[in-house]
Amino acid sequence: MEAKIVTVVGASGTLGSAIVRALLEKRAHVRAMVRATSDRTKLESLGVTDFVVADLNNPASLQQALTAEPRAEAVIASAAGFSAHSARTKGDNSRTDTEGYRNLVDAAKNAGVPRVVLISILECDKAPKVPHFSQKFVTEKYLAEKRQPYLALRAGAFLDRAQDVVAPKVRNGVFPDIAPGVAIDMIYSPDLARYAAEAALDLPASALNQSIDVCCNVPATGPLMAEAFTRALGRPVVAKPAFPPLIFAILPLVARFGPPHLRDQIAALAWLRKGGYVSHERQKQKALFGELPTIEDSVARYCRDKGLVKPTAS
Ligand SMILES: NC(=O)c1ccc[n+]([C@@H]2O[C@H](COP(=O)([O-])OP(=O)(O)OC[C@H]3O[C@@H](n4cnc5c(N)ncnc54)[C@H](OP(=O)(O)O)[C@@H]3O)[C@@H](O)[C@H]2O)c1
Repeated sequence: MEAKIVTVVGASGTLGSAIVRALLEKRAHVRAMVRATSDRTKLESLGVTDFVVADLNNPASLQQALTAEPRAEAVIASAAGFSAHSARTKGDNSRTDTEGYRNLVDAAKNAGVPRVVLISILECDKAPKVPHFSQKFVTEKYLAEKRQPYLALRAGAFLDRAQDVVAPKVRNGVFPDIAPGVAIDMIYSPDLARYAAEAALDLPASALNQSIDVCCNVPATGPLMAEAFTRALGRPVVAKPAFPPLIFAILPLVARFGPPHLRDQIAALAWLRKGGYVSHERQKQKALFGELPTIEDSVARYCRDKGLVKPTAS
């Protein structure tokens, strides 16, 4: 049987490259959508050879990428304009998340893409003050409005944050708690990548056209995470506030006058600290992808993958 072709938008990103790996493990043919300036090194080292060059802010380039022959069976959209990665490297802004994603949906619809798997954000429909959250909800609505077949995976906070500050801290016995006293739903990004690959390749069409919360079995507080790290590492790890209290005194000022990227991050942090980042619907994830990963197991795998513990002989 011929390998199914899946186009990954944002393939050079942190999650994007994990999605590429998950697709290759399932023997799919990966078509990586990258920008002319994207660093392809990691993708090439994974064995990707099929690249299409496009920018979400350039509709013609998207049209060309999505009509490349042979056509892809699915598109997984993991690009982000408002992330630290792209803000740092390309001076991107929210235009990618708004106009860019709209362009992508239009191009997918015009090209007759059978399904789009959107990497979305947990509770994005309830966070109008957090730009990069609410923009995901706008894209979900636009997919439905355009009748473009889709599945939105509304992910919890990545256990392995984009700029991974956790591993170096837990090595020194500290879990950096970004929202002390508040539980947050999390997901280890390789699990999200595996779900995205399954959604693109295996799920029946009857599973499409909905949004699914994607997270671990329970929301976790900092102390609960610290306990899981203590067990995984076999030495004490304690939760400590990630930011000194003084920071919160000046945040309103920064939020008012800071650059959009920083304002967005501050709004997201405020939302997390109010307890907004918690799933109220775990059944759909279980029905489509099986038992939810536990915090304990996710932390144990994270520790192994980051080289914090020696792999056990199997
Ligand atoms: N971090 C979390 O806790 C979390 C939680 C839930 C959901 N998410 C979502 O997960 C997704 C992936 O996040 P990530 O941390 O892996 O992102 P990332 O590492 O910042 O990667 C962003 C990707 O988007 C690409 N990109 C940016 N602007 C583009 C444009 N105009 N046209 C085409 N490609 C563009 C970048 O390409 P270049 O390499 O060329 O810059 C890069 O491949 C995002 O959609 C994010 O919202 C994250």
